[in-house]
Amino acid sequence: MDQIINRRNFVKAGAAVSALGTFTNTTFGQDKANSTLNVALIGCGGRGRGAAANALNADPNVKLVAIADVFPERLDIAVNSLKNYGHRAKIETKNMFSGFDAYQKVMDLKEVDIVILTTPPHFRPQHIEAAVNAGKHIFAEKPLAIDVAGCKKVMDSVQKCKAKGLTFVAGFCYRFDKKKQETIAKINSGAIGRMTNIQCSYNTGGLWMYPRQANWGDMEWQMRNWLYFTWLSGDHIVEQGIHNIDKMGWALGDITPEYAYGMGGRQSRVGEDYGHVYDHFSIQYKFANGIYTNFTCRQQKGTDASVSDIIVGTDGYADLMKHRIYDNEGKVVWRYKGGAMNMYDAEHVELIKGIRNGKVVNNGDYACNSTAMGIMARMSAYTGKKVTWDMLMNSKEDLTPKAYDLNASLDLPEVAQPGITPFV
Ligand SMILES: NC(=O)c1ccc[n+]([C@@H]2O[C@H](COP(=O)([O-])OP(=O)(O)OC[C@H]3O[C@@H](n4cnc5c(N)ncnc54)[C@H](O)[C@@H]3O)[C@@H](O)[C@H]2O)c1
Repeated sequence: MDQIINRRNFVKAGAAVSALGTFTNTTFGQDKANSTLNVALIGCGGRGRGAAANALNADPNVKLVAIADVFPERLDIAVNSLKNYGHRAKIETKNMFSGFDAYQKVMDLKEVDIVILTTPPHFRPQHIEAAVNAGKHIFAEKPLAIDVAGCKKVMDSVQKCKAKGLTFVAGFCYRFDKKKQETIAKINSGAIGRMTNIQCSYNTGGLWMYPRQANWGDMEWQMRNWLYFTWLSGDHIVEQGIHNIDKMGWALGDITPEYAYGMGGRQSRVGEDYGHVYDHFSIQYKFANGIYTNFTCRQQKGTDASVSDIIVGTDGYADLMKHRIYDNEGKVVWRYKGGAMNMYDAEHVELIKGIRNGKVVNNGDYACNSTAMGIMARMSAYTGKKVTWDMLMNSKEDLTPKAYDLNASLDLPEVAQPGITPFV
C-alpha cells in the first residue's frame, strides 16, 4: 500500500509503464502472438457471463475452457448463456467446478491462460493472489476488495504481476470507454480551465433480493444475497458507487485524498432481508491540491435516478457521462461526436492485445487507489469520523469470516451507527 501513497516512486521503479498502464514484457508474449488463448471464468453470475462473452468477442482465437462457481446450478446457466459461441465456449464437464475451493481447481489447470474473476468482491484478494501464484493473466471486476486488509493484499499481487509479466486488468470499465477518454483528454488540455471541484452521483433504484429459504443456513443466505452484507460487497458505495469514485480519481490524476468525511444510513431497505448495509451515502473528499469533491449514492426504490460526474473548472465544466464540455454560461462548447466500442468488450480487447504484443496491461495501481477511496468513504459514514488516508492505511479492519462453509452459522451484523460504531 506504500506504493499507493508513493505512486510516482513506484511507477519509476516499474520501468516501461505507459500512461495507460501497459508494461513491456520481454519474457512472455512472443509465443502468444497468434496462438489460442484459453480463458476460465470464476463467478458465473450476471457480470461473469457478460465478461466471458466480452473476452470471446474480443478475439476470434479465444476459448472459454473452464468455469467455477460456489453454487453448482450457476454452471449450467453460464454454459447455456454462451451457447451462441459454439465450440469456443463448449466446456468439458471435468472443467466445471463448484464449491468454495472451485477457484483453486481452475488455477491448477495448466491450459488456462487468463482468468476472469467475477465473484462478490470479498473473494477478489484471495482469487487474485491464487491467480498470480499460478501464473495466470487476470481480469478482475471492480471493486478489488472490501476492506483495507484485502486492498493491501491486492496491491502486493499487482506488484507481483508486474514482476512476472502478467496482465492485471481491473474492471473499472469507464476508463476503457473512448468517449470518456477523449473527454478527460480535453479536460487535461485545459478546456475547463483550472479544475476547482467535482460533483458525482450514483443514485438509483433497488436491486434484486432473494427472500430467505427454510433450508438455507446463515452463510448460504448471506452468500445468495451478498449485496446486503458488508463483508461480501463492501456496501453499495464500494460495490457500485465505486465507479464514480474511480472516475473522480481519473479526472484528478489518481492522487490520494487527504480525507473523506461522510454520512449515510438506511431509510427504505430497513428489513432483515436487506442485511445490514446502508441505502444512501453522502461523502466529501478533500485533496492536497485544494480540490473538494462531493459524491452521493443511493439505492432506494421509487426515487429518481441520477448517475453523473460533473467536473468544474474556472472556465466551464464537463459532464463526463454525456461527453460534453460547457462554458460558464452553460453553453456546450465541445462534445464527443465519434463512435466507440462497447467499453466491456474494449477491456478484453486491450487485455488480449497486450498479451499478444508483449506489452501487458496493468491498471492495478489506480484500481487499488479507487477501491481504497471507496472503503475510506464507507468507514467515515459508518463511524461518523473524518477518515484521513493515514488512518485508512493503518486500519485494522478485516471482515473475513472464520470459515467458508455454506452451512456455517454467521451473525447478522448490526447496522452501523455513526458516533457509536468505532473506527478500527
Ligand atoms: N463493471 C460493471 O459494470 C459491473 C456490473 C455488474 C457487476 N460488477 C461486479 O461484478 C462482480 C459480480 O457481480 P454480479 O452482478 O455478476 O453478481 P452475481 O451475484 O450475479 O454473480 C456472482 C457469482 O459469483 C458466485 N460466487 C460467489 N462466491 C463465490 C466463490 N467464492 N467462488 C466462486 N463463485 C462464487 C455466485 O454464486 C454468483 O454466481 C461484483 O464485484 C460486481 O461489483 C461490475
